[in-house]
Amino acid sequence: MAPSSTPPPPPPPLWWVGILLLVELLLLPRGLAKNDDEACLSDLRRSLTDPSGSLRNWTRGNFAAPCNGFTSYLHGVTCNNGRIYKLSLAGLALGGAISPYVSNCTNLQSLDLSSNQLAGPIPPELSALLNLAVLNLSSNRLNGPIPPQLALCAYLNVIDLHSNLLSGPIPDQLGLLVRLSTFDVSYNRLEGPIPVLLANRSGISPGLPRFNASSFVGNRDLYGYPLPPIKGRGLSVLAIVGIGLGSGLLSLVLSFTAVCIWLRVTEQAAMMAADEGKISHLMPEY
Ligand SMILES: *[C@@H]1O[C@H](CO)[C@@H](O)[C@H](O)[C@H]1NC(C)=O
Ligand SMILES: *[C@@H]1O[C@H](CO)[C@@H](O)[C@H](O)[C@H]1NC(C)=O
Ligand SMILES: *[C@@H]1O[C@H](CO)[C@@H](O)[C@H](O)[C@H]1NC(C)=O
Ligand SMILES: *[C@@H]1O[C@H](CO)[C@@H](O)[C@H](O)[C@H]1NC(C)=O
Ligand SMILES: *[C@@H]1O[C@H](CO)[C@@H](O)[C@H](O)[C@H]1NC(C)=O
Repeated sequence: MAPSSTPPPPPPPLWWVGILLLVELLLLPRGLAKNDDEACLSDLRRSLTDPSGSLRNWTRGNFAAPCNGFTSYLHGVTCNNGRIYKLSLAGLALGGAISPYVSNCTNLQSLDLSSNQLAGPIPPELSALLNLAVLNLSSNRLNGPIPPQLALCAYLNVIDLHSNLLSGPIPDQLGLLVRLSTFDVSYNRLEGPIPVLLANRSGISPGLPRFNASSFVGNRDLYGYPLPPIKGRGLSVLAIVGIGLGSGLLSLVLSFTAVCIWLRVTEQAAMMAADEGKISHLMPEY
């Protein structure tokens, strides 16, 4: 005969579960989020130099709570519902580098650090910014490659990297960003072929905006449509000028030599004629 089973413990009261859920929903995400934005700001501040004092109030005390609902007291920071969603630090003469910890501002939709003196690479960690729509890092001194990981930021509308010192190829993966409406990598040191999916977007989906040559000009070793074809032949302007000058010089030397030879020949002929003349002149007197 089976022993009678002990009665199961009574279930926890529902209100207790409810309170636990509420605490988790209200407090936990916000606490984590604040720490992420704080790490983002404090590390970015550490990696930047600020000779003009524009970031005077970017102080540790202000990082702990950078957002008060929709407002922020930090210069260049815009908030949305307690999280940083926009960083606009254009034209502030900032130096230093872009911290990879910017990727901890996970709600960021717009990152504008254009027209500064920033050097170093574009951190591939920016790929963690899954809401990023605008990336403007133009007119700095950024070097190294364009990280192909940027293609993970599926909402990217604007990639403006013009007037930097970026090198290497344009990653093919960027052609897969279907929301891209502005793409500018002009005036860098990029090389290789222009990705087909960036040059002709109808391969992805008909009606996507095209990027014309102005997006790509000013990169010595970049070639292919929509750039004019002459750059693709491996002959730089310098080589063409060199060949022109060289052949000009060669023909100058050749014609100079020819004139010299001609002069000598005619001189000799004249002398001979003169001699003959002398002789013929003298002849009758004999
Ligand atoms: C920080 O600086 C900006 C402008 O530079 C100003 O609008 C803001 O009020 C300042 N915030 C604090 C807390 O001083
Ligand atoms: C912050 O960013 C750094 C660099 O990308 C990363 O190593 C770290 O895990 C991030 N921290 C959090 C909490 O996401
Ligand atoms: C990027 O910033 C520069 C100025 O800092 C501005 O002239 C340019 O229009 C911006 N790019 C886009 C695509 O908005
Ligand atoms: C662009 O791509 C479409 C489809 O892939 C093709 O039909 C068209 O000829 C291409 N245009 C150019 C200018 O390459
Ligand atoms: C190239 O595209 C830009 C916008 O992306 C436009 O402002 C410009 O007029 C275009 N240039 C030509 C030659 O079509």
